[in-house]
Amino acid sequence: MNKSMSTIGVLTSGGDAPGMNAAIRAVVRTAVAYGCRVKGIQKGYMGLLEGEMIDLGAGSVSDIINRGGTFLYTARCEEFMTPEGQQQGAEMCRKNSIDGLVVIGGDGSFRGAQKLAGLGINVIGVPGTIDLDIACTEYTIGFDTAVNTAMEAIDKVRDTSTSHERCSIIEVMGRNAGYIALSCGIANGAEDILLPEIYNYDEEVLVDHIMENRKRGKKHHIIINAEGVGHSTSMARRIEAATGLETRATILGHLQRGGSPTARDRVMASLMGAYAVDILMSGKSSRIVAYKNGALVDYDIDEALSMHKELDSFALSVSRIMAR
Ligand code: ADP
Ligand code: F6P
Repeated sequence: MNKSMSTIGVLTSGGDAPGMNAAIRAVVRTAVAYGCRVKGIQKGYMGLLEGEMIDLGAGSVSDIINRGGTFLYTARCEEFMTPEGQQQGAEMCRKNSIDGLVVIGGDGSFRGAQKLAGLGINVIGVPGTIDLDIACTEYTIGFDTAVNTAMEAIDKVRDTSTSHERCSIIEVMGRNAGYIALSCGIANGAEDILLPEIYNYDEEVLVDHIMENRKRGKKHHIIINAEGVGHSTSMARRIEAATGLETRATILGHLQRGGSPTARDRVMASLMGAYAVDILMSGKSSRIVAYKNGALVDYDIDEALSMHKELDSFALSVSRIMAR
């Protein structure tokens, strides 16, 4: 038990992700179990700068484990990108007697947290983003729900695509990372998966693949296009012109970020949120919670943010074999 840890702050930042509420709930209830006070900071770093805080007790996080979004709201905050903004953020933590701050968010939010850590604030990062693009961890809260949401939507597009014997390009989110696209590509049995890490913009190869499949009797051709590759609508026009096959683009967009979290996201969020508070209570400082080889671990924030990760090469090769 860390006696100097009497008030814990919690905020959500960057793009929301299903399961963030479950993570907040876990932070609050674990902190309360240790006898700490909890301040919920609204609207991410923007709310921190403005001092938008609410006291949270065990009861105030009832009925949220099943809800998508984040009841603390989230934001992207330009001001916090500046040294002055970061100084102000650290001062707000001190002014409000926040001994430890749990930041639930993505890579960008963690870079902000790193700045606060450099100013002497004890920050713990909990990975919350649908993109799965945080290098130190094999799981991020929201990924499973987003993939399931996208998968169901893509199944629906496939029905109509097959009926009309069309080619369909479906764009999924993921910022500059292809994790959602690769998982959906495998789960939906896509004929092509365009990943920002790999795709070389050679549309001739795509056109040849479509024509080859058509000759083999395939009635549809599903192309999953990761957001980082982009341009689905103009790509559809070019592919239709080159193949003579009706081609449609569907951009799934923000629907992938909403909805009730899956069991995996609720469980992972609960464990990660509780683990974050355990770290604070154990006296450690400035850590990122991560999931590695089937267990929760934590890394120093500087070490975590200097790591790199790549798409799973086995998953990539399976996706290619399955697409034949
Ligand atoms: P995510 O956390 O989902 O990756 P963003 O990249 O939009 O989302 O980052 C969320 C917020 O974190 C930004 O609006 C900004 O306030 C803060 N942030 C991002 N990068 C930095 C950085 N390099 N330095 C300080 N703050 C940052
Ligand atoms: O980081 C989550 C994410 O949904 C990315 O996949 C996407 O690039 C981005 O956020 C979209 O951000 P916004 O909500 O600002 O449109």
